[in-house]
Amino acid sequence: MERDGRTATILGSGRLVGCRVLLIVGGGIAAYKALELIRRLRAEGASVIPVLTAGACRFITPLSAAALAENRAFTDLFDPTDEGQMGHIALSREADLVLVCPATADLLARMAAGLADDLATTLLLATDRPVMVAPAMNVRMWDHPATRANVATLRARGVEVVEPDVGPMACGEFGPGRLPEPDALLEAVVARLAPGGRPLKGVRAVVTAGPTHEPIDPVRYLANRSSGRQGFAIAGALAGLGARVTLVAGPVCLPTPPGVDRVDVETACQMAEAVERALPADLAVMVAAVADWRVEPAPAKLKKDEGAPLLRLVENPDILKAVAAAGPRRPRLVVGFAAETGDPVAAAQRKLRAKGCDLVVANDVSGGVMGGDRNRVHLVSASGVESWPELPKDEVARRLARALAARLTEANA
Ligand code: C5P
Repeated sequence: MERDGRTATILGSGRLVGCRVLLIVGGGIAAYKALELIRRLRAEGASVIPVLTAGACRFITPLSAAALAENRAFTDLFDPTDEGQMGHIALSREADLVLVCPATADLLARMAAGLADDLATTLLLATDRPVMVAPAMNVRMWDHPATRANVATLRARGVEVVEPDVGPMACGEFGPGRLPEPDALLEAVVARLAPGGRPLKGVRAVVTAGPTHEPIDPVRYLANRSSGRQGFAIAGALAGLGARVTLVAGPVCLPTPPGVDRVDVETACQMAEAVERALPADLAVMVAAVADWRVEPAPAKLKKDEGAPLLRLVENPDILKAVAAAGPRRPRLVVGFAAETGDPVAAAQRKLRAKGCDLVVANDVSGGVMGGDRNRVHLVSASGVESWPELPKDEVARRLARALAARLTEANA
């Protein structure tokens, strides 16, 4: 525990930075421990979306779960607002882990039977993500053949079961059925979500993302359609593997991923300076769609009645090229992106040589990639081309972070 003067905060070691947990809280007396678990998951850097069953709402309130999670808590299957904002299918698919805690005998039975008569069970039936359950109930209910059979069924389907503790129970009896303490639950989640530890621990990374804005006059600018999403997702995924990430972001409206240091810039020249300040680093991933040219900006607003202005374009610094040629300050691994409307692999191969980087991630931006949620990329390096299927940008980011961690480890060996 550490006090910051006003509030007491539990500081974790960031072992779950970038991990998303969908926490389904069942209706048992142990539900109060789920609140403490939310605090601990957050302290480790995980994002948590709480879902409370009707029974859970009798023991704890959605408000306390939401306040601790710093996220909306969901309770209702048929809420038209929720369905409009985030449908229950999306909710069930966007987590890295679905954790049912506490899992009551009733909830386990409904999971085993495949019922979907409330939000919690519907999410559990719709999810394609790993599911972990932490049962808590009276010892006789836990030992009952029906519960044993339900737990066996769930295990056979790949659900991970956190064994309940043995001890005195709220009902006055003694035996197995107690929900483990939040620390033990947290360790079970960490073991599941960060089993390989944090391969980028101690690695310093600099990531650029988003567009740049090049002013024409005090109100106008040159820009492009980059949303920054892919770069932000990569920064978050690298932090999730333990890297210390500086994210140099062009003008975008995106939240900073947990565990990432963000530097906001507007122009290519500012981005180049911020990247230079972030060196030395071990890894550079230049995702930003940097404007190739800038304008000598007019000091006052250009007027229509003064005729069309002649814009003299001046070439911007090539940040990627400069980083790759930074001599002793050159990161061990320099990665560029190639957003192309033609053949992305051929263009990436040319870019690899022209920019002097180690890897180019090529994507075809002729469809809805810029601003969209999905991306199809090819990893082009001197050793060949690896093409991935079309994936959500978050998944591209996680895979890329793991691939970069593997390359850095190989280079070290
Ligand atoms: O030069 P081009 O824009 O085709 O190359 C794209 C790659 O170069 C991306 O990784 C982008 O972030 C980087 N780049 C840069 N500075 C520039 C132009 C592009 O870092 N001025």
